[in-house]
Amino acid sequence: MSNVFEFVAESRGRSGKNAARNIRRQGSVPAVIYGGHKEPQMLVLNHNEVIKHLNHEAVYSHVLDVKVDGKTEQAILKGVQRNPAKFQILHLDFLRVSMSEAVKVHVPLHFINENTSIGGKKGGIATHSMVDIEVSCLPSVLPEYIEVMWRCTDQVTEHWSIEQPYDMLVEMRKAALLIFMRTLFNVDFSADIDRLWNPILRLLTFISPGLWIFLPHKPRPGYDDAIQAIDDFLYGIIRHRRTGDGMSDDLLSLLVSVPDLDDGLIRDQCLTMLIAGHDTSTALLAWTLYVLASHPAALEQVRAEIDEVVGQRPPTGPELERLEFLERVIFETLRLYPPIHTGMRFSTGDVELLGCAVPKDSRLMYSIFLTQRMERFWPEANKFDPQRFCPENKKGRQPYTYLPFGGGPRNCIGAAFAQVEVKAVLARLIQTFDFRWDMQAVHPHMGATLEPRPGVPMFVKRRV
Ligand code: HEM
Repeated sequence: MSNVFEFVAESRGRSGKNAARNIRRQGSVPAVIYGGHKEPQMLVLNHNEVIKHLNHEAVYSHVLDVKVDGKTEQAILKGVQRNPAKFQILHLDFLRVSMSEAVKVHVPLHFINENTSIGGKKGGIATHSMVDIEVSCLPSVLPEYIEVMWRCTDQVTEHWSIEQPYDMLVEMRKAALLIFMRTLFNVDFSADIDRLWNPILRLLTFISPGLWIFLPHKPRPGYDDAIQAIDDFLYGIIRHRRTGDGMSDDLLSLLVSVPDLDDGLIRDQCLTMLIAGHDTSTALLAWTLYVLASHPAALEQVRAEIDEVVGQRPPTGPELERLEFLERVIFETLRLYPPIHTGMRFSTGDVELLGCAVPKDSRLMYSIFLTQRMERFWPEANKFDPQRFCPENKKGRQPYTYLPFGGGPRNCIGAAFAQVEVKAVLARLIQTFDFRWDMQAVHPHMGATLEPRPGVPMFVKRRV
């Protein structure tokens, strides 16, 4: 399989927009090869050769040979950027693979015998709602992530005792922060978490909805110290990684190995990821525990499933995939309490929405929370019903009526990560503890994310 496609490439020293433009002018394609526990390498390929390969549908789902300066590496094609107006390939992304490690690829579906099938012969026309399928083997890093995820959960829960209630909003933030830092920055955050706890909460207040959305230039005093504390931490780990210490296949290593990214730009990316990547999972974890505590039958079913599939051992990737009921509970929680509750878009043309004329280039804010509770699309919309996410009930669902991770090309890049993370943490918690909730009233609060206020205090009792 791997010898069918050979991409011949040369390494290149420079990256950045100008270098890429020059390469394209010379009839070549800029590319990058990354992953496989090695540093990313910038490449140049011949445009015509690339086009020839891309004409084969199978190239997108095969392991390829990428020959860089005469040396062959095995990779899959992770991304192709095309010029929408011209017949031109702008950029290729290759991900190195090891034949002993699993990867996730989209495999095109071929529909055969449509005309000779009984329905086809009687004049029926087959319509295809899917054109490809993602082969459900985990990418190489995911098993490692799952291990990190349950270990970080244990780190948070090891001090729990039966004497006092714990606010799950607080505890899940600790778990989400430890997991995020370890998986994306390869950093053990346990030494810094107490010191940076308040600055992180302050930053979340800074980005929470408020008057500043309408008055963006009005000064906002009182945040400088928090921003400075987070900046000191981020610049510190960036500088340390630049020494080569701690290099791995995490996000921070990838960022520092891109030649034209200065520390300021890397800090911006890290800060965005830190906020987007932990506050959302925190809210989802806390909401799911709240939902389960207030629906004891569902909690029982989740526990029975975890006991049967995982038992008392730490959960593995394939076991998490088999936790179907837990997954439905998570999806239903995301519907009722989407951590990101609103979205923004600009109109690309003049449109009419519910009788209102919306001119081109208008900024529109839409509510994910309200959309996912519309009776038209979700009968008994306020009722918790995980069966809505059974395969048969998902069929024929109107697009964009369920969008906890947004939609279109700018949707959430952490969606797959978050789903594995939340499942791994919940499986670990529920296999280890019984939860008792004192049924306090909880309401959704529109902060940086939709949070359960005043919190989700629970008494916990170790099961074994
Ligand atoms: C339960 C967890 C999460 C939820 C509900 C969530 C939800 C969302 C939503 C609704 C958007 C806006 C998408 C759009 O406008 O179409 C978004 C964007 C984004 N998310 Fe997530 N997210 C989650 C976890 C994560 C994680 C774990 C990461 C990083 C590791 C992450 C990184 C991002 C980034 C960087 C964007 C901006 C993408 C862009 O503008 O192109 N998210 N997320």
